[in-house]
Amino acid sequence: MSTFLSFPENFLWGTATASFQIEGAWDADGKSESIWDRFCRTPGCVKDGSNGDVACDHYHLWPQDVVMMKGLGLKAYRFSVAWPRVLPDGRGRVNQAGLDFYSRLVDELLANDICPFVTLYHWDLPQVLQDAGGWPARPTAEAFVEYTDAVSAALGDRVHNWITHNEPWCISFLSHMLGIHAPGLRDTTAALRAAHHVLLSHGWAVPVIRANSPGAEVGITVNLEWVDPASRSAADLDAARAADCFANRWFLDPLYGRQYPADGVADFADALPNGLDFVQPGDMAAIAVPTDFLGVNYYTRRVARDEAAADNLPQAVFADGPRTDIDWEVYPEGLYKLLNRLHFEYGPPKLYITENGASYNIGPDADGRVPDALRLDFLRRHMAAAHRAMANGVPLAGYFVWSLMDNFEWAEGYTQRFGIVWVDYETQQRLLKDSALWYRQVIAANGYAYGG
Ligand code: FCB
Repeated sequence: MSTFLSFPENFLWGTATASFQIEGAWDADGKSESIWDRFCRTPGCVKDGSNGDVACDHYHLWPQDVVMMKGLGLKAYRFSVAWPRVLPDGRGRVNQAGLDFYSRLVDELLANDICPFVTLYHWDLPQVLQDAGGWPARPTAEAFVEYTDAVSAALGDRVHNWITHNEPWCISFLSHMLGIHAPGLRDTTAALRAAHHVLLSHGWAVPVIRANSPGAEVGITVNLEWVDPASRSAADLDAARAADCFANRWFLDPLYGRQYPADGVADFADALPNGLDFVQPGDMAAIAVPTDFLGVNYYTRRVARDEAAADNLPQAVFADGPRTDIDWEVYPEGLYKLLNRLHFEYGPPKLYITENGASYNIGPDADGRVPDALRLDFLRRHMAAAHRAMANGVPLAGYFVWSLMDNFEWAEGYTQRFGIVWVDYETQQRLLKDSALWYRQVIAANGYAYGG
């Protein structure tokens, strides 16, 4: 028998995007080069050799994109602002044309009763700041505050929901330690410094946003994974501890006033010959600034195993769920557990799922329909997991599908499609997939029938 999962009144149903992934117009109206513009032009960095020069051309097509959002009945839209459009020199001079683009978008969203959620940093750092040292250098955190001030002063009268950073783990570890994202470094010390300056810049930016945007709600978005040990052996339990520290606690603990986790400091000892020398007096208090909500991006889980341990037990837990086209395990139960954990261990006053979604590259059939039943099922199961967590008291206030439309998927280029809307990159035509049609009904009914 199926049950109707009904969501609270005012639950915010939305979709999310990011500037570099959809806007294109990479050098329009005074925009400067970003680290992603540069990275895409570096051979071997992006799978299909593509770039964000045009992407979904949202910079020009935004009016029709807002019409599309309205047609879906979206209550909220999460997008990011491109720093190099607003402060082409990284700091100092404000480029009014860049700000105007976002100001018009905000006005149009509000005119259509769609609540704008603005992410200030979704990875497109001005290249000039990278040349000056990037996130491993402390002045980049100061520059972020200048940038935040410019954007929140211009939009703060109309935007009431702000996210400082998207995914500090990706900004720092994925990009500076693992070398997969721009700027493509493989330097653990640089990654730890970058992580600190990203968190610090968040802490410094929050009061600036509050001053410019009175009454606004401010938070940060983290990408978290559910981590399971592959067995109950001491070695696997320790591997899971380390993975959880690396992926989750290194960021959550300082944000919630617990300093950097001591076990992580020990794990990173080789990269920290001088300890945490980049932490200055007052930094940890600044990072732990109270926020109004925590944004959570959830995609998959990690099963941790110490392959090298001699006396390990047979593996008992496998990441054996179905996989999306990007090869991430589908594991909705991880979202349920993660939301509970956040609520009971860290206690943010409010939570949003600021990204959740799946890459399935299924395209239009002969009738022009996109039968993405797999994505639809992914969404149904994850929303049900979130609903179940809410029944435990988790203060979840909204859910944003990643993504509104297919777009530039970073190092994967255009090879992975996460949208509920199909994009034909030749013609820039948009086509609602079955998942979008279903999502429209969910929003209209504020829930859906599940199970049975
Ligand atoms: C997240 C990013 C987002 C998108 C999804 C698939 O890590 O925030 O931009 O690429 O993954």
